[in-house]
Amino acid sequence: TSSPSPASGAAQVLVASNRGPVSYEVGDDGSLRAKRGGGGLVSGLSAIGPDAGALWVCSALSDGDREAVRRGVGEDGVRMLDIPADVHADAYNGIANSVLWFVHHMLYQTPLEPVFDAEFRRQWASYETYNRAFAEALAQEAAEGAAVLVQDYHLCLVPGMLRELRPDLRIGHFSHTPWAPPEYFAMLPDDIQVRLMEGLLGADRVAFLTWRWATAFENCVQGLDPYRWLPLWPSGAPRAVEHVRKDPGTGRERITRKTLIGVHSLGADAEFLHARSHEPDVEERMAALREEIGAGRKAIVRVDRTELSKNIVRGLLAYRQLLDDHPELLEQVVHVAFAYPSRQDLAVYRDYTAEVQRVADEINSQYGTPGWTPVVLHVKDDFARSLAAYRLADVALVNPIRDGMNLVAKEVPVVSDEGCALVLSREAGAFQELGKDAIAVNPYDVIGTATALHEALTMPTEERAERTKRLAAAATALPPAQWFLEQLNALRDQAS
Ligand code: F6P
Repeated sequence: TSSPSPASGAAQVLVASNRGPVSYEVGDDGSLRAKRGGGGLVSGLSAIGPDAGALWVCSALSDGDREAVRRGVGEDGVRMLDIPADVHADAYNGIANSVLWFVHHMLYQTPLEPVFDAEFRRQWASYETYNRAFAEALAQEAAEGAAVLVQDYHLCLVPGMLRELRPDLRIGHFSHTPWAPPEYFAMLPDDIQVRLMEGLLGADRVAFLTWRWATAFENCVQGLDPYRWLPLWPSGAPRAVEHVRKDPGTGRERITRKTLIGVHSLGADAEFLHARSHEPDVEERMAALREEIGAGRKAIVRVDRTELSKNIVRGLLAYRQLLDDHPELLEQVVHVAFAYPSRQDLAVYRDYTAEVQRVADEINSQYGTPGWTPVVLHVKDDFARSLAAYRLADVALVNPIRDGMNLVAKEVPVVSDEGCALVLSREAGAFQELGKDAIAVNPYDVIGTATALHEALTMPTEERAERTKRLAAAATALPPAQWFLEQLNALRDQAS
C-alpha cells in the first residue's frame, strides 16, 4: 500500500484529525442531520476554509457519520474516512486513549498498569492501519507542495507514512496534549517508542502548546538513533531535531533532514465567546443557575469533560475539606460542577464518572439542608449552560493532574461578568501564561486546594476584577484563527 502516488489532489492546505468539524445523526425518518462541532480547531480552520483550497480529513465516528459517507453526503472542505469500526475502536479506545493518553498524562496506576501484552500488539496493528488510512487519503487529496497539519496523538504515525508517499508535501504535527517525561515514555515497548518517534519526525515541524511539553519531547528524542536534538540552531533560530545518517564505509555522519520544534499556545476566541455568552439561551440558563445556587451565595464553578486527567474527584474532596475547615461557609457557597460524558466506551471512564457522582452525593448528604445543595452536579453536555456558569462564577476551579493547555481556564476570565478568581493547577499548560494572576495549586494536594479555594473566595472584589482583566488579556493572546495561521506560515516559511 505504500507505493508513492502522484500529486493528484487539489487541496493546498489539509488538516487531519480524528474528530472532525461536523458529525451526522440519522433521524427517525431516516434523514441525516449535520451537527457542527465547536472548539479551537474548528474556528481556527474557518480562517482558511474550503474556498481557499483547504480540506479537513477526519474519521467517521458514529453510525450517522458512516451512513453519511455511504450515502455520499458531506460538507465542502471535509472528507470523512469510513475506517472499519473495529479498527477504529482498537486505535482510538485501545491505543490512543488507553495507552498514549495515559502515558502523556501520567495516568497509569503502577504497579498494576500498564501491561503491554498480545492484546496491546493486536490493537497497535489497528493503530497502524488507521494511521495509514489517513496518510493515504491525505496523499490522494493534497496538491503538489501542499501544507498538511496533522493533529494529535491519534495520528502520530501519519507524518512518516505521508512523507514516504508524498515527499513533496510540507508536513506539520501538532500535539494538543502534554508530552510525557522520558522516564514515563520509556514504559512503552522500545520498538513502539521508536515507531512513534519515526512517525512524528517524518514531519518538517512538530509543535506543542507550551515549551514544557516541547522540551519533554526533545528529552525523549535524546539518544534515540538516528536523531540528534539541537537545543537551538546557530543564531538563535528555532530548536530542531537533526536526522543523521552514518556512512557505513567512512563512518562519517551526514545530516539528511531537520525537523523543527515549534510552540503555539492556543488562546480563547474572545469575539466568539463575548457574542455567544450574551445570547438568549445563555441568559435563560443564568436565571436557572441563580435559582439552583440561591441568592447571596458564592459559586465555585468547574466545567470539564469527565476525564481522568481533570481531577474532578480531588476537586470535590477539596471542597469538602473547605466546608470542614470553614463552618462559616455552610449555606454560603455552592460548588457548581459540570462533568460532561467522555469516552464512555472505556470502563475506567465509566467508573470515574460513577465516582464523581458518588462523592458529590456524599457531600450533599453530609452537609446539605432543605434549602441548600452544596454540590450542584450536571452531567449533560450543554455549552450554553457552561457559558452561563462562566459568567456567574465567583471562583473557577481548574485543577487537572496534567493538561496540554486547558481552555476553560482561558475562557472563564474572558466571559466573566464581574470578575472571577481562578484556582489553577500548576500542571496545566495554561499555567505558563496565567499562573501570575491565578492561585496556583498542586493538583494532588487536597488540603492545599481547599486553602486555595478559601483564598479565592475571600479575594477582595477589586483585586479579583483586576486579575480577571489581566487573565483575559493573557488568555486571548493567540486566538484560534491566528494560532492556526501562525503554524501554517511557519511551516510554509520553513527552509527544507
Ligand atoms: O486534548 C486533546 C484532545 O484531542 C482535544 O483536542 C479534545 O478536546 C479532546 O482531546 C477530546 O477527546 P475526544 O475526541 O476523545 O472526545
